[in-house]
Amino acid sequence: MNLKQIAAEKAVEWIKDGMTIGLGTGSTAFFAIQKIGELVKAGLQVKAVPTSGSTEQLAREFGIPLTTFAEAGKLDITIDGADEVDSQFNLIKGGGGALLREKIVAAHSKTFIVVVDESKLVPTLGTFPLPVEVIPFAYEWTMEEINERLQADFKPRMKDGQKFVTDNGNYILDYSFGTIPSPTDVQEKLNCLTGVVEHGLFIDMADIVIVGRADGTVDVLE
Ligand code: A5P
Repeated sequence: MNLKQIAAEKAVEWIKDGMTIGLGTGSTAFFAIQKIGELVKAGLQVKAVPTSGSTEQLAREFGIPLTTFAEAGKLDITIDGADEVDSQFNLIKGGGGALLREKIVAAHSKTFIVVVDESKLVPTLGTFPLPVEVIPFAYEWTMEEINERLQADFKPRMKDGQKFVTDNGNYILDYSFGTIPSPTDVQEKLNCLTGVVEHGLFIDMADIVIVGRADGTVDVLE
């Protein structure tokens, strides 16, 4: 079985009748959404908030009823993938560009479950390029300031020869630090920069990490 699938399907076991759930984005979250869809067809009663346009479309295809924060309040559980997970459960997310809504949804969930295959586990974050979502207006200046402050070389993410545009109409800048010894230090520097909307460091947010292992087993880390 696919390692992403076994991790994602394990996480779905946390979902109970009547819950409100956050649906992540990406190829691992896909398997959770697919499984939730099967359970909904079989009678499970849940309502979901999607973290991206693509996840919203999937949820509709799989027949999962959608809701809003205004209606649902704080969500019971969110299940989402990650690009890197360190031993403190700090994450890099946003490889798919959905980091802003993913972070909002995770932050407004009672339990945030991260589902990954074991290749995503790292001793220190930073090999995977860190995404930063910025306002397109004067993004060149924002980029210059980020690079100066972090001594980095962030560049706009491109797609089909054009700048990648998020669901929120913003650009993504990416840079691989190689290693991020202090994610909180990078977070602090990014959080106070004008023009930065959000970044892909999810620090101290994940409650449970579920890992699909190459030998076919699943580890639940809490
Ligand atoms: C989407 O923006 C990301 O945060 C994804 O959750 C992350 O990139 C993991 O994606 P995969 O499950 O496709 O590896």
